Amino acid sequence: MTPDALAALSARAYRYMAPWSAQAFADTLTRPTSLLKTSDHAFVLGQVVADEAEILALAADPAHQRQGEATTALQAFHKAASARGAQKVFLEVSAENAPAIRFYQSHGYSERGRRKAYYRLQVGQTADALIMARDLP
Ligand SMILES: CC(C)(COP(=O)(O)OP(=O)(O)OC[C@H]1O[C@@H](n2cnc3c(N)ncnc32)[C@H](O)[C@@H]1OP(=O)(O)O)[C@@H](O)C(=O)NCCC(=O)NCCS
Repeated sequence: MTPDALAALSARAYRYMAPWSAQAFADTLTRPTSLLKTSDHAFVLGQVVADEAEILALAADPAHQRQGEATTALQAFHKAASARGAQKVFLEVSAENAPAIRFYQSHGYSERGRRKAYYRLQVGQTADALIMARDLP
């Protein structure tokens, strides 16, 4: 997927935080630590630094959700991160993003911490961020 396609998909999918711009995807993808895995209708963008991987953005097209699209991309991400030497994967997710939290839990992630009022939604409105993580085999 190109940066434009990634931005368009995330604009359709993101509900609980601001979607990434095409420029933000392009800039991130130039870093040698970046790792992008896609399926037909979903992507996972993250990075691997030393023995830790981090998921930076993940989305499935709303027209194709609950069909295993994000699971396929996440499994490919886990495999590639592990091949680069990652032993753990971390991510941040809005505490209000129940579908994503459920998704991550179903893939072995558990809550490791909480950042209060981490996301700014509208004027005066904030949401906590959950830090979730899992080990890689
Ligand atoms: C989270 C997200 C990527 C899941 O994509 P998906 O392709 O639908 O996920 P999969 O089909 O691979 O996995 C589905 C599993 O995830 C969980 N899940 C996904 N959507 C869910 C929902 N609306 N409610 C409850 N559980 C949900 C369930 O465990 C589900 O399994 P089930 O269908 O057997 O119940 C998708 O909802 C999305 O793009 N959300 C918007 C973007 C976003 O918030 N990204 C997270 C940024 S940190």
